[in-house]
Amino acid sequence: MTVNPASANTVAMAVLNAIQNAVIMVDANGLIAFANWEAEAFFGASASHLARYKVSTFIPFGSPLLALIDQVRERRAPVNEYRVDLSSPRLGQDKLVDLYVAPVVSDPGAVVVVFQERSMADKIDRQLTHRAAARSVTGLASMLAHEIKNPLSGIRGAAQLLESSASDEDRSLTRLICDETDRIVSLVDRMEVFSDERPVDRVALNIHSVLDHVKAIAKAGFARNIKITESYDPSLPSVFANRDQLVQVFLNLVKNAAEAVSDRPDGEIQLTTAFRPGIKLSVAGSREKISLPLEFCVHDNGPGVPADLVPHLFDPFITTKTNGSGLGLALVAKIIGGHGGIVECDSQANRTTFRVLMPVSKSAAFDDITPVKTSGSL
Ligand SMILES: Nc1ncnc2c1ncn2[C@@H]1O[C@H](COP(=O)(O)OP(=O)(O)OP(=O)(O)O)[C@@H](O)[C@H]1O
Ligand SMILES: [Mg+2]
Repeated sequence: MTVNPASANTVAMAVLNAIQNAVIMVDANGLIAFANWEAEAFFGASASHLARYKVSTFIPFGSPLLALIDQVRERRAPVNEYRVDLSSPRLGQDKLVDLYVAPVVSDPGAVVVVFQERSMADKIDRQLTHRAAARSVTGLASMLAHEIKNPLSGIRGAAQLLESSASDEDRSLTRLICDETDRIVSLVDRMEVFSDERPVDRVALNIHSVLDHVKAIAKAGFARNIKITESYDPSLPSVFANRDQLVQVFLNLVKNAAEAVSDRPDGEIQLTTAFRPGIKLSVAGSREKISLPLEFCVHDNGPGVPADLVPHLFDPFITTKTNGSGLGLALVAKIIGGHGGIVECDSQANRTTFRVLMPVSKSAAFDDITPVKTSGSL
């Protein structure tokens, strides 16, 4: 019996997608040439998105996986490595995996990587070791916030008192003290959000009202002289989310876009929304494929994200700006992840897009706006 190559291909795809381990093929250039469904879930990105980037974009800096891939290419023989920690803000906490890396005989330089997540027992074991440390870090963060913010308000108050009797020359110094203390307070406030694990209220929201609000804030302040256009799909169903957090997400994205185009006289930001029912993703921790059909994008025509930044774009403290804290995109990733969505970036000169994909609100059909308490993180 002869097997039709097309149907053999379909069967091979079905088999790979049925495997409950993430499987990727990395080509000779380091690009992710193939990703099965589980790999989409593992990396929190669609296969087509993964295909555009090098594997180093998606794994923590300095991870042994890259060395392993090189080793397999060189030796042309499979290599396994156990208990590799791939935890990162992008991949999530507790990503402890066994890696199986093998060369693809028919495609020189290409390797296949299979990720086997360690058993719960392993994770629990590791968590127990780290729990006390984690607790003290969270405690330290809130203690620091308290210990920094209180004295700062004293310093600020004292500077304001001095200001009233200061000469014009000295007044610029007292203003400096006030501005800088304000900056530290707002930095500490932003840090606090990361350690805040309280449940948030979510409702079925019309994203366009959120985007219009963000646009109004931007136009009144940091994007006063920048053109902001929108192209909305008016029939878009509701998204189940916390309004304040979504405002924060799009404010951060629009602010970055505004900063990216600030040098250009023809700088423009575009907000778009669309319904893309085809976008499905398996989600870590669940065997189901969930649909992420709500697409909200912020585009700008700035110079693009510097290439060396792309792999770490969503990590905290990554910034190229003199006054940047590098917390904007880390916060975006945390909030969207907490809502069951994903955020991706496509960037080239003159066209940068930050794309947020989210599930549809379960109550979208009824569009009730009764607050519902959920226990999502953040
Ligand atoms: N639209 C964009 N175009 C080009 N580069 C961008 C864009 N958005 C983000 N970046 C790059 O990513 C970096 C990280 O962004 P992020 O918002 O996390 O921090 P930040 O803007 O530097 O500081 P903060 O948001 O805390 O003020 C930026 O410094 C910038 O280099
Ligand atoms: Mg920013």
